[in-house]
Amino acid sequence: MKNLISMRDVSKDDVLRLIDLAGKIERKEVVPEMSGVLAALLFFEPSTRTHFSFDTAMKKLGGNTFSMTGTSTTSVKKGETLRDTLMTISMYADLIIMRHKVEGAARFAAETVDIPVINAGDGANQHPTQAMLDMYSIQKTQGTLNDLKIGLVGDLRLGRTVHSLAQAMADFNPTFYFTSPQHLQMPAAIKDDLTAKGVHYEEVDDLREIIPELDVMYVTRIQKERFAVPEDYEKVKNSYIIRKSMLENVKDNFKVLHPLPRVNEVSTDVDNTPYAYYFQQARNGVFMRQAIITTLLGKA
Ligand code: CP
Repeated sequence: MKNLISMRDVSKDDVLRLIDLAGKIERKEVVPEMSGVLAALLFFEPSTRTHFSFDTAMKKLGGNTFSMTGTSTTSVKKGETLRDTLMTISMYADLIIMRHKVEGAARFAAETVDIPVINAGDGANQHPTQAMLDMYSIQKTQGTLNDLKIGLVGDLRLGRTVHSLAQAMADFNPTFYFTSPQHLQMPAAIKDDLTAKGVHYEEVDDLREIIPELDVMYVTRIQKERFAVPEDYEKVKNSYIIRKSMLENVKDNFKVLHPLPRVNEVSTDVDNTPYAYYFQQARNGVFMRQAIITTLLGKA
């Protein structure tokens, strides 16, 4: 692995190696050393978790970072192209971690510069480091990645995390239940990938039918910022809200995951149940991102 752009490029062995390394880093069995290594955090789109957890991961590794948050204070404002921005940054940094609204921007970056590139989210396409920390969270809470029943709920069309997670889990014989507003269903390209790998999935309208069956319910926000017509967002924004009262008959191992940020799709009354795992999930991101950086820079 030189770059991490899409979960389609990541093998089952890569996934297992990264999860193993993240666990060793969390338990302090491995302490990778990255002093002198400088990562550029280029966030053309807003972020809390991905930005700050990469920053934290890099500093815990002994390395350093510099950040771009939005373009207003950079020469992008003067019309500099993405290519010239990337080429320039690659003269300063050892690694580029980039979030951009354009699908394919991270792939373009990897093809443009000679240093490793990590996709921190490209439009509605992919968010592979989120998928890796999601897999790590699933492994930790379920004790396995194999043969799980996973509900993916919310904006499955525009939410990039579910695309990466569905592709990543496909090697582990999951059963998926997709629940979304009609126009926000899982894209055909992702379903085709699942079908090609023999993965069973169902579209389910009524969440209550499947909740008692699930090991994991992965909830996503309706991606307001990707709607061309604001009225369309208003029509679907409250389609699915997970409440504590809906979780009365769940399995003992059941967990609610969410990449965050949430708006209102998981009620705060779920937070104090044993099923809520989304803040621990965000914490797991630091260990997984340490593992990813270490692996890409050949220090694993
Ligand atoms: N999960 C996630 O990508 O969160 P941020 O948008 O805050 O980085």
